[in-house]
Amino acid sequence: MITMSSTRSRKLVLFFAISCLLLHEICTDASVCKESERKALLEFKHSLQATVFSGNDALFWISEECCLWRGVYCNSFTGYVEMLDFSYQPLVVAGTISPSLLKLHHLTSLNFSSNDFNGSLIPEFFGSLKKLKLLDLSNANFRGPIPSLLGNLSMLETLRLGGNGRVFNVGKLEWLSHLSRLKEVDLSFTNLSNANDWSQVISHLPLLQKLSLRHCDLPSISSSSLSIANSSTSLTYLDLSDNNLPSSAIYPWLFNVSSNLVSLNLSSNRLKGPIPEAFGNMMAIQELYLSDNLLILAENQVWGDSVLNEIEKLPDFMVLDLGYNLLNGSISKSIGQLSNLQVLRLAGNSFDGDVISEAHFSNFTYLQKLDLSYTSLTLKLNSRWTPPFQLTQIMLCSCKLGPHFPDWIRTQMGILTPDHYISYVEYLDISASGISDSLPYWFWGSFHGLKYINMSFNQISGTFPNNSIHISHLDPSSNNFSGPLTRFSLDYNMGTINLSKNKFTGSVSPICNFTGAVFLTLFDLSNNLFSGVVPDCFGSFPFLTALNLGDNSFSGSLPSSLRSLISLEMLSLRGNKFSGVLPSSLQNCAKLKFLALSDNELSGEIPMWIGQKLSSLVFLSLQGNQFRGRIPHQLCGLKYLQILDLSVNKISGTIPPCLNNSLPWQKK
Ligand SMILES: *[C@@H]1O[C@H](CO)[C@@H](O)[C@H](O)[C@H]1NC(C)=O
Ligand SMILES: *[C@@H]1O[C@H](CO)[C@@H](O)[C@H](O)[C@H]1NC(C)=O
Ligand SMILES: *[C@@H]1O[C@H](CO)[C@@H](O)[C@H](O)[C@H]1NC(C)=O
Ligand SMILES: *[C@@H]1O[C@H](CO)[C@@H](O)[C@H](O)[C@H]1NC(C)=O
Ligand SMILES: *[C@@H]1O[C@H](CO)[C@@H](O)[C@H](O)[C@H]1NC(C)=O
Ligand SMILES: *[C@@H]1O[C@H](CO)[C@@H](O)[C@H](O)[C@H]1NC(C)=O
Ligand SMILES: *[C@@H]1O[C@H](CO)[C@@H](O)[C@H](O)[C@H]1NC(C)=O
Ligand SMILES: *[C@@H]1O[C@H](CO)[C@@H](O)[C@H](O)[C@H]1NC(C)=O
Ligand SMILES: *[C@@H]1O[C@H](CO)[C@@H](O)[C@H](O)[C@H]1NC(C)=O
Ligand SMILES: *[C@@H]1O[C@H](CO)[C@@H](O)[C@H](O)[C@H]1NC(C)=O
Ligand SMILES: *[C@@H]1O[C@H](CO)[C@@H](O)[C@H](O)[C@H]1NC(C)=O
Ligand SMILES: *[C@@H]1O[C@H](CO)[C@@H](O)[C@H](O)[C@H]1NC(C)=O
Repeated sequence: MITMSSTRSRKLVLFFAISCLLLHEICTDASVCKESERKALLEFKHSLQATVFSGNDALFWISEECCLWRGVYCNSFTGYVEMLDFSYQPLVVAGTISPSLLKLHHLTSLNFSSNDFNGSLIPEFFGSLKKLKLLDLSNANFRGPIPSLLGNLSMLETLRLGGNGRVFNVGKLEWLSHLSRLKEVDLSFTNLSNANDWSQVISHLPLLQKLSLRHCDLPSISSSSLSIANSSTSLTYLDLSDNNLPSSAIYPWLFNVSSNLVSLNLSSNRLKGPIPEAFGNMMAIQELYLSDNLLILAENQVWGDSVLNEIEKLPDFMVLDLGYNLLNGSISKSIGQLSNLQVLRLAGNSFDGDVISEAHFSNFTYLQKLDLSYTSLTLKLNSRWTPPFQLTQIMLCSCKLGPHFPDWIRTQMGILTPDHYISYVEYLDISASGISDSLPYWFWGSFHGLKYINMSFNQISGTFPNNSIHISHLDPSSNNFSGPLTRFSLDYNMGTINLSKNKFTGSVSPICNFTGAVFLTLFDLSNNLFSGVVPDCFGSFPFLTALNLGDNSFSGSLPSSLRSLISLEMLSLRGNKFSGVLPSSLQNCAKLKFLALSDNELSGEIPMWIGQKLSSLVFLSLQGNQFRGRIPHQLCGLKYLQILDLSVNKISGTIPPCLNNSLPWQKK
């Protein structure tokens, strides 16, 4: 050790420092923390009164070595604190932030993102953290206004204040114009309704690359305030979506700052009229989101003969989202020239009567997401067609696909790519698409666990497979499916299964063998031919919010495990042959708003706990049963009740006076 050359030992120090950075949590030996900074940090910790610090873990700011504390990052040579990052774990802060942070003279990066500062003001002293290059206070529950002293942070390159809520009124943005080194600004989901200087300020940030002003109530730019001459053209990413801005407020400015734009989101504004051909001059553009506007095609324009002719010159164009506008007419085959397209979304426009053929798609080698929902387009594709693409999302709701089941979907169900990954469609929506056919034999055979399948509102027949189906959302409702209930295996995301309005038969005992039942929130078996006793297996469905077994032929008593459905808001058992009394276990379902038990053979008295325990009820129907005795006055406790139907029972006595005639209820 003693003979070690100084170069060698420097290398060792460097190695040690790097490994400590990488293995921040297990490095224990480096003692580099400055005592003054340690004190300042402790003062800061104390001021926050934050809950997360209450652990015993040395990482929670207890040990001597403050450079090893969670969220504290020191320069590995000097030992000065350079970065504080609390985004790793949410703090819930009760106190105020101590200005002791000012003693960290080398602080360049402060990330408080995704914590909860309980609506406190952004401290003014942040404006004196002169060396800051990065300040991220996004999604941290801060309150406005933004102290204009932040305009003193002249080194700042990244500023994120987004997601703090609309109460966060930013006011004017003049202070921002002093931050000439800014590369990224995110003020999304704040209230900028008073910042009528925003476009001017932004135009004068010469290095700005990324700007997010989504959902900010942005005021319109008045043309007199435009100072176009000096606009920054460094912008590559721009999100002005969801601001209700008219074209006149965006276009003049936009087309002067857009020469380097790569991604542009103008969705959910009031862009009106023909799509300007100037979009075709954005030579770097890759992603264009223009959905939810009022765009039309100019008179006599056909798709591809105008805008697309411009866009097709753009070599890297990958995302085209024109969903939910007022486009009509027909889609030209020249859309196929966008040969690098990965996402195509034309949903919610009315191309009524127009036909899409294989020719339209022949160049879409890279297409991943296709959304033509609600366009009334007819997809005329040969059953032997092999698409050039492998989609992950197919959204063709209310297109005309039928009457035959679209065979080309088979090619999308899963392949082995050159990288040996199986890539397959995750999202398939072919609902209401005029299919009148049997489900092809290959469907379940090539099934690799789609997350979402919607085939509802067709006339598809067939049975479900014997082995279990792995899924998050399955909606084959309103078809002609038959056969027994299959076992489902729910994916680790909250899911829904809706088998209603089919011809499924037999017992529902497979529900006892669902795996991942804990992830199911909606389960609808209504309007089928199921029969028998409902098994007592609801203990495994704690997050179910809607259960519909209505209009089948179930018999026997209600399973007492219904008690476990503590999240349930909707329960319909109507139109069956359930008998016996209402199990008192039902009073555990305290969140019930909708309870329909009509047209069964239930008997006994109406339990008084309905009025006491099910206090959220809005709809209660016991109509068409064998209930007898008096109406319990406890029903008066149901203060949200709007519909009460007790008709066609054997109820006697008087009507409690609270149930007055102003309610739209029926009685016996
Ligand atoms: C702050 O931390 C979050 C979570 O680690 C991260 O996603 C975000 O990019 C960080 N902010 C900045 C500006 O780097
Ligand atoms: C949040 O602030 C409110 C006052 O605005 C206070 O009553 C409440 O106790 C605070 N919550 C926490 C967790 O400190
Ligand atoms: C902010 O900068 C101004 C000059 O631009 C200076 O007068 C003021 O003292 C600074 N404020 C703080 C808190 O550093
Ligand atoms: C935004 O701020 C303006 C002006 O202070 C206010 O009138 C408006 O209600 C705020 N918007 C929201 C959504 O809070
Ligand atoms: C544009 O920039 C030039 C040189 O940087 C400056 O002299 C001029 O005042 C600027 N014009 C406007 C309208 O900001
Ligand atoms: C574009 O903006 C819309 C509306 O704010 C949003 O829903 C969508 O996710 C955005 N798209 C991207 C890719 O950020
Ligand atoms: C920039 O704006 C000016 C004035 O509105 C306009 O004449 C010019 O064509 C615009 N430049 C581009 C590239 O759109
Ligand atoms: C498109 O809609 C406009 C009115 O919005 C109408 O005048 C025009 O005839 C429509 N074009 C076609 C081809 O349907
Ligand atoms: C497909 O791409 C080739 C080469 O870029 C082009 O010549 C052809 O016209 C394109 N086809 C369609 C249907 O756009
Ligand atoms: C399936 O599509 C129909 C419309 O075609 C829609 O009403 C239904 O909500 C969708 N189901 C799911 C689970 O998203
Ligand atoms: C389902 O399984 C049963 C018994 O295991 C078998 O008899 C039947 O043929 C299977 N049905 C299908 C459609 O595979
Ligand atoms: C289904 O569950 C029942 C009871 O939980 C069990 O006896 C039966 O073996 C299970 N069946 C299958 C196919 O897993």
